[in-house]
Formats: sequence, C-alpha cells, structure tokens
Amino acid sequence: MQNNVRPETMERITTTELANAFIDEQVKELREQIGDKKVLLALSGGVDSSVVAALLIKAVGRQLVCVHVNHGLLRKGEPEQVVEVFRNQMNANLVYVDAADRFLDKLAGVAEPEKKRKIIGAEFIRVFEEEARKQDGIEFLAQGTIYPDILESDGVKAHHNVGGLPEDLQFELVEPVKLLFKDEVRVVGKALGLPDNMVFRQPFPGPGLGVRCLGAITRDRLEAVRESDAILREEFAKNGLEGKVWQYFTAVPDFKSVGVKDGKRTFAYPVIIRAVNTTDAMTATVEDVPFELLQHITRRITTEIENVNRVLYDLTPKPCATIEWE
Ligand code: XMP
Repeated sequence: MQNNVRPETMERITTTELANAFIDEQVKELREQIGDKKVLLALSGGVDSSVVAALLIKAVGRQLVCVHVNHGLLRKGEPEQVVEVFRNQMNANLVYVDAADRFLDKLAGVAEPEKKRKIIGAEFIRVFEEEARKQDGIEFLAQGTIYPDILESDGVKAHHNVGGLPEDLQFELVEPVKLLFKDEVRVVGKALGLPDNMVFRQPFPGPGLGVRCLGAITRDRLEAVRESDAILREEFAKNGLEGKVWQYFTAVPDFKSVGVKDGKRTFAYPVIIRAVNTTDAMTATVEDVPFELLQHITRRITTEIENVNRVLYDLTPKPCATIEWE
C-alpha cells in the first residue's frame, strides 16, 4: 500500500476475520519496509496512534520507540492507561515524557483560543523533537494518518503535527492505517487486543482539556475540568449513555459566581456540561439527558470538586454554537 488512493476493490474491514487478514498483511509489509531499523511514533493514546503502535509492536517489537507526551491537558487516567497498556501489557519501548509544567508555563496568561492551540501544537513538536534527538538510529517515523485525513488535507494529521519536524529529522514515513476509515481502524484495534475504552473512545481534540479550560488556563480550573469530565464519563457509563452519545465533556469558564455552602458564602467557578450527537461534526444536536441524572451529576460535581459551586447544561445545537467552547 504505497500510494494514497484506496482501491475501489478494497473490501471494508467490518469483521475480526477481515481485520486479522489486514493485520497479517501489514505485519509482513512493515517487516519488509523496516527490516532491522528503528521507528519512532508519537503515541497520544488516541485510537489511531494506538492502533499504529499495536501493529508496529506486533511487526517489529522493541524496534518501535513510542513517545508519549503528557502535555498536562489529557483526561483523568489517560497517561496511566498508555503506560499500562503499551509498556506493561505489550512490552513496548515507551518513552513517557511528563511535560505538563512546560506546557502550562507556556500557556500562562494566554486567553485567545487559536493562540492557545498554536502554543500547544508548537510545544508538542519541540518536546517530540527533543526526544527524537535522544534516540540513535531512527530511520522511520510512524503516523496514525487515516483515510479521511488524506481526503481532507495534504495527509499530515493536523493534531499530530510531527510533520513540523526540522529538516534534519525528516524520517521515512510509515502510515499503516492510511487507507482505513475510522470504523475500520476500531475493528483492527479490537482485533489487536486493545481495550474497548481506547478503541471506542469519543473524539477528543488534540489540544485536549486546554480548549475546555476557557480563557487563560489556570491549574485550579484545569483540575476542575479534569475532575468534572471524569465524573461525567463515569456517570454516563453507569447509566448506559457511553457509546450512545457521540461526544460529552465539561468546560470551566474563567469567571466565578456567588454561592453558599455550610452556611457560608462561596465565590467559585461554574462547570458547564455539554453532550451532543452528530454524524459528521458539522452540525450537532443536544442529547436529551434525563433530568434526574443531570441533578445527580450536579450534586457530585459540586460536592467532590473544590472551587466549583454551580453546574450548567449547554442546550445549544450546532449551529449556532460549535461543539467545543473554544
Ligand atoms: P467544533 O467545536 O468545531 O468541533 O464544533 C467539531 C469536532 O472537532 C473537534 N475539535 C478538534 N479536534 N483539534 C482536534 O483534533 C482541535 O483543535 C479541535 N477543535 C475541535 C471537537 O472536539 C469536535 O469533535
């Protein structure tokens, strides 16, 4: 599969059998392409990079060097899961970089959404570049490019951004799932033994919680976003909404309101809940979450999270709102 056009005759991968056939073929091709050389991969823990990692581990084992950059904007439990699944269970050669302070320092005081995105993207390349320079003998760069990325852009995944590496770090590309659609990548991921919550996870933007901690990011509000998102996900899973609702998350604005707790006045942040359904992310409708569940989530968020005294539910479809707040 050297070119970027999916042959019309290529069968859609819908079953484990078809996925296994694809995996066998890819493993053979990857071994031929890579030989005894080393491959570098930015492993975010998202579906695409995780499936590419699992394929390469199967093909070339520890010749694959996975770099997981924790930019401090991941959801609760995500970096730990990457380490557990890839290093502990799959015996991957995984470099874990805790770069949270670096990202948060760079983002301090920056309120404009597009500026925040640019800083996160640029810092990601810088951290990845530093790690790449520490490795000897890398000849290939693996990427989780999928077919829609090729159809929609020049084939370089915007949120992976490793296309922005300097001239002297231009490795030969390895893109084993570039002809697959998202649903096929998930079937392959499942066949490779990746956990369901990695394979079927909802879309999560590259800049992560950074665009849900509204305005200039502060550590206290970032923690409120992370903790409230974890409560929302836990409650949606418990109440049968996981896998049914397309995307759901929380956002924390950069203003406070007055409240009262234990007879004392509080001045704390609100948490906004958003839950939407869509087929293509161009338009979206709001999920009709049972009111009792919303009240239960509100109770949990306001009692379990410090600095939060109010919960709001976003009732706005797209258009006129976007799915994310920034
Ligand atoms: P909007 O907010 O534009 O979002 O309605 C549509 C979909 O795109 C996701 N999104 C992003 N994904 N980098 C990404 O990788 C980003 O900067 C970004 N911004 C929005 C959003 O989560 C939704 O699924």
